[in-house]
Amino acid sequence: MPFPATRLRRLRATPVLRDLVRETRLTPAELVLPLFVESGPAAGRTPIASLPGIDRLSISAAVQEAGEAAALGLPAVLLFGVPEHKDAEGTGAYDDEGIVQLATRAIKDAHPELVVMTDVCLCEYTDHGHCGLLRADGTVDNDPSMELIARTAVSHARAGADVVAPSDMMDGRIGAVRAALDEDGFQNTPIVAYSAKFASAFYGPFREAAGSTPAFGDRRAYQMDPANGNEAVREALLDVQEGADVVMVKPALAYLDVIRRVKQATNLPVAAYNVSGEYAMIKAAAAAGALDERAAVLETLTSIRRAGADIVITYHAKDAARWL
Ligand code: PBG
Repeated sequence: MPFPATRLRRLRATPVLRDLVRETRLTPAELVLPLFVESGPAAGRTPIASLPGIDRLSISAAVQEAGEAAALGLPAVLLFGVPEHKDAEGTGAYDDEGIVQLATRAIKDAHPELVVMTDVCLCEYTDHGHCGLLRADGTVDNDPSMELIARTAVSHARAGADVVAPSDMMDGRIGAVRAALDEDGFQNTPIVAYSAKFASAFYGPFREAAGSTPAFGDRRAYQMDPANGNEAVREALLDVQEGADVVMVKPALAYLDVIRRVKQATNLPVAAYNVSGEYAMIKAAAAAGALDERAAVLETLTSIRRAGADIVITYHAKDAARWL
């Protein structure tokens, strides 16, 4: 329609009008808070230098943090384990008395209504830091790794995890996890598949937090090439076929187009992981006085929702819930 009949500014004139026509809503109900749970003698909280405002937590601190999350209206937490001991096979990942298993039981006991999701991977538990078992030549051996991932998921479910989230990027692991859960009686435990997980520079602070930097090499032989969008859609569709209930794109901000494409291709609930490096960038810029943290965070989270994400996993979750 020609000017002056069409004046788009009419609906921008007041806060009430803007609110009335807002296309994308952001509420605490869509946000998931990641928690780092640490085993060992350290009690309480250990600050993570590269993630200001985020701590590694003892089990009792994690229970307290989960309670705060629930009180702020957040529906879920996503647990990462930082074990005391690591070995070549990542045995801590599938130990029924492992750190994530113990933390899951404690959190579910104290806050039964809060959804506990668990990250299912070996990288925090292997002494070499890779996400699976190594062959003699240093490459990651897909199928045996996939079996251990499935074992880990079952162990988390036995501990009371409501949702399991495999993040290792082995081929076939969603099918293996689904079959293992079903066989153990967990037919109703949903899988959030880290389907399109890219080999990203934005995981830097997380690796410091979880102590999971690969001892050699990188993850490019299993995580995705940041250049590939079609392949991301293929990954997501395969995970749907294998039984994924939610598909994830990770990181979020440099991959908003991928979020949109995965949503359109699958019609599943889509999760996006606003990763550690994305969080650290905003925190650093805000600390330097370069931008308004609250406005930048809410704009960022809204843009991830606008791209098509139903669920946003973010270290900003508690702050955002307070601001919304
Ligand atoms: C691996 C895993 C990683 C993240 C979540 N799960 C790190 C990696 O693949 O190196 C990154 C999360 C973040 O950066 O916030 N289990």
